[in-house]
Amino acid sequence: MKLTLHIWRQADANSSGAFRTYELNDVSEHMSFLEMLDVLNEKLITDGEEPVSFDHDCREGICGACSMMINGQAHGPDRKTTTCQLHMRKFKSGDHIWIEPWRANAFPVIRDLVVDRTAFDRIMQAGGFVSVNTGNAPDANANMIPKQNADLAFDAATCIGCGACVAACKNASAMLFVSAKVSQYALLPQGQPEKKQRVQKMLAQMDQEGFGGCTNTNECEAACPAGISVDNIARLNREFVSAVLTSAD
Ligand code: FES
Repeated sequence: MKLTLHIWRQADANSSGAFRTYELNDVSEHMSFLEMLDVLNEKLITDGEEPVSFDHDCREGICGACSMMINGQAHGPDRKTTTCQLHMRKFKSGDHIWIEPWRANAFPVIRDLVVDRTAFDRIMQAGGFVSVNTGNAPDANANMIPKQNADLAFDAATCIGCGACVAACKNASAMLFVSAKVSQYALLPQGQPEKKQRVQKMLAQMDQEGFGGCTNTNECEAACPAGISVDNIARLNREFVSAVLTSAD
């Protein structure tokens, strides 16, 4: 198939960027979206031009690195699908495809389609952990956990931290990400001792990083490749209110 690609090119964080247009012929419908970009980059290198920088690592839908907006949708048109798992059969010959980096003040563009997502790392460093030595993995039945809680905690833990929720939200809110990380601990006994400090510290860091507030538009859930539910945001709010009302200071 033949495609016209409009790709955001930006030399570095301090430069202003712009869309550049590229024509690509002979794109196979069996290629992944990233393989299609690989082909474009080979062509650009052959022509003596700078290849397009984009983030990727696993190419298996696990690491969350392949963050980009495709025709205005985070990770493109397929639901619950990362860019690396998106295939060109979702497009047709003659299509124009607009490809941009995540747009959020807290995710500054480093180059082309690559953004700095270390704000998520700092939120995790603020409280997204259990700080006691838990020793070796215990027997599965040593801690009795209601099945429903175990399932909900597991679902929350499938967040891959890609940032699609932020990119899709008109407020650039990180509430879905933070709520998933808070929930995965709040639902399990191992997360109880530090739960009050955890939720307050992670939300404070989220605000400090410049993410916006949540106004319940639910775009985050629609864009999430892991299918994280906004029910986690409700749980986060309950955890926060409870922590503030019952904290000693
Ligand atoms: S490259 Fe790892 S999720 Fe896409």
